[in-house]
Amino acid sequence: MTEIDFILKSYNTDIKGGSVKWESPSNIALVKYWGKKENQIPENPSISFTLTDCKTITEVTFSKKESNNFSFDIYFEGEKNEAFKPKIQTFFERIEVYMPFLKDYHFKIETSNTFPHSSGIASSASGMSAIALCLLSIEQKLSYTSNRGDLSYFDKKASFLARLGSGSACRSINGELVVWGKNKSTESSDLYGVKFDGKVHENFSNYQDTILLVDKGEKQVSSTIGHKLMYGHPFAKERFSQAHNNLEKLKTILASGDIKAFVKVVESEALTLHAMMMTSMPYFILMKPNTLQIINKIWEYRAENNSNVCFTLDAGANVHMLYPENEKENILEFIKNELVIYCQNGHYICDQIGLGANQIGF
Ligand code: PMV
Repeated sequence: MTEIDFILKSYNTDIKGGSVKWESPSNIALVKYWGKKENQIPENPSISFTLTDCKTITEVTFSKKESNNFSFDIYFEGEKNEAFKPKIQTFFERIEVYMPFLKDYHFKIETSNTFPHSSGIASSASGMSAIALCLLSIEQKLSYTSNRGDLSYFDKKASFLARLGSGSACRSINGELVVWGKNKSTESSDLYGVKFDGKVHENFSNYQDTILLVDKGEKQVSSTIGHKLMYGHPFAKERFSQAHNNLEKLKTILASGDIKAFVKVVESEALTLHAMMMTSMPYFILMKPNTLQIINKIWEYRAENNSNVCFTLDAGANVHMLYPENEKENILEFIKNELVIYCQNGHYICDQIGLGANQIGF
């Protein structure tokens, strides 16, 4: 599919308004996306676990209007929010060509997260995918016939739109594993996320992700800036080809159920992501001392208990602990006894691999 396939060609202008509601989860990358080209096209492929409980719930109410500009209000957790407006304005500008009805309506966007406000958990993936899904459901109400009821088209366009809001958001529409970015190992596209088409061994069923909240403050360097610093980065070329290799390795690992090999790829990806940050110009560090304390504790615990727990990081200081379901009890005990002291206000969130977004209001 190409961009042109996602342009809505004609729509019913008689519809006065209505509302739709979606919940959409966050996701955690195993092979990381870091570096992009024009129009949110990734420099390298990535693959992620979709989460279950860390999600954004968004309701969009639309009503017909006259003026020829974008008009919307955003309410975050019940309160009108001005801070999110520029991001949504940019999003509307980017997607207008695919959704020509956007200037015909006023949109009231009401959104909330299931995870605590400013927990340092990136809400852009869940937030942008939820709003993209709402707008696409509105498009379905307005469109006469075009691709109505075609689930595969719906998911692709939702992911395509979400990508234009925030790259990693395109991996939140489906589950349990989603690939984004052209590569030779899996079915894939640069334009949208695709459900991983390979075999997944039962060792990875109900895989757990406990997120240790090390630092809930605002990040010193946003991912938008971080991605840009990959232009002219001395190790960029090697990094992008490493991501291709790691995806290929992971495909084999997911099929065979080799968790020891999984741990190596996932941890190496997390550290490489942060190594790219530390070696860009200007350089920066998003990990905190407690991030490293936790990583060392996880390594100690794994060696002493023959455990398969591993860590990954996104663009921040929080640590995602990934582990098989059969270790749940022991790992939660380990967290309570030894890791909670490194978490800000003792906070951590238990989540697990999930199936993707759900429509909850029509
Ligand atoms: O979607 P963005 O632009 O916020 O970038 C997110 C990048 C990482 O979370 C660091 C990695 C990834 O693949 O999700």
